[in-house]
Amino acid sequence: MIKIDIQLSPTSRLSEVDFADLGFGKHFSEHMFVADYTEGLGWHSCRVEPYQNLSLSPACGALHYGQALFEGMKAYKNVAGDVLLFRPDENCRRLNASAERMCMPTISEELFHGALETLLKIDQAWVPTTPNSSLYLRPYMFASEAVLGVRPSREYKYIIFSSPSSLYYNKPVRVRVEEKYVRAAEGGTGFAKCAGNYGAALFPTREAIKAGYDQILWTDGHLHQYIEESGTMNVMFVLKGNKILTSPVSGTILDGVTRKSILQIGREWGYEVIEERLSVETVIQAAHDGHLLEAFGAGTAATVSSICTIGYKGNDFELPEVTESSFSRRILAYMEALKRGQIEDTHNWIKTIKTT
Ligand code: COI
Repeated sequence: MIKIDIQLSPTSRLSEVDFADLGFGKHFSEHMFVADYTEGLGWHSCRVEPYQNLSLSPACGALHYGQALFEGMKAYKNVAGDVLLFRPDENCRRLNASAERMCMPTISEELFHGALETLLKIDQAWVPTTPNSSLYLRPYMFASEAVLGVRPSREYKYIIFSSPSSLYYNKPVRVRVEEKYVRAAEGGTGFAKCAGNYGAALFPTREAIKAGYDQILWTDGHLHQYIEESGTMNVMFVLKGNKILTSPVSGTILDGVTRKSILQIGREWGYEVIEERLSVETVIQAAHDGHLLEAFGAGTAATVSSICTIGYKGNDFELPEVTESSFSRRILAYMEALKRGQIEDTHNWIKTIKTT
């Protein structure tokens, strides 16, 4: 067991939060977990303390050379009041894959899970039970050493804070196929959940928003012909004949936990899951011919978010409205019930944190 020092907040901000109107990322719960890393010593000084500002050197490596990465997770409550996490081992694995790519230290499973468990037991009252809401968890790591020479930092911080939140997208999403800017190229950091990937996407996303869309549909960095993912989520397309199409996980695409879970359940439900390079033309042609039934984004924050419009070369392709029997609606309902402990966890995906 890792040793975690605990300093509880003397007061509570819980009563200031309107749990019926959470939004996404507007509130931060009472405590945070912090661990320090020093080369030669490893991870140490693990602690839970009140959520508060950090004190950092202005020369801190993350701020100029971008050694920073994160994960996104959600905690739910079951009827017994226990806190549930969905496939946390997958987040631990991906965090460490990102860390390796960014020359940052990895985190043991014991530290990853021990930190979450301790924090969630302390902040259990912050896990919402209102419909569509959950406690969004943000584990992240960054270089904290004061450096000027370009080299990996010798000191890091690993922090987890959380935010009681509701839906990320509260209406179907309009996406525009990106034909100019590039999110990731082979050999780059596209598969890693590093901060720079998100920073670099802000400008093209703002351009898409200015043009009346909500998000970008990223394409390959070479020819802009193949669909990769959308900002904040992986993307999937449902075609007539019970087919689900999605781009394969590669060096340029984030290995989404929601993505892989949906594909596995889709297969179990009898869908043909096709994970192959997916050209924009194939999707547009299918939309044109009426074969494209649904398009949706899949992610932790986004859950399953319907795509209503695909903008491509100045034309908008409107997708059919989803109904209760649409795959995306059914898989969303299934995943939400699973994550809240309302149906049997046949895959052993749920980790229960006993709160009593
Ligand atoms: C998530 O889905 O958890 C993400 O990290 C995406 C985003 C909100 C940046």
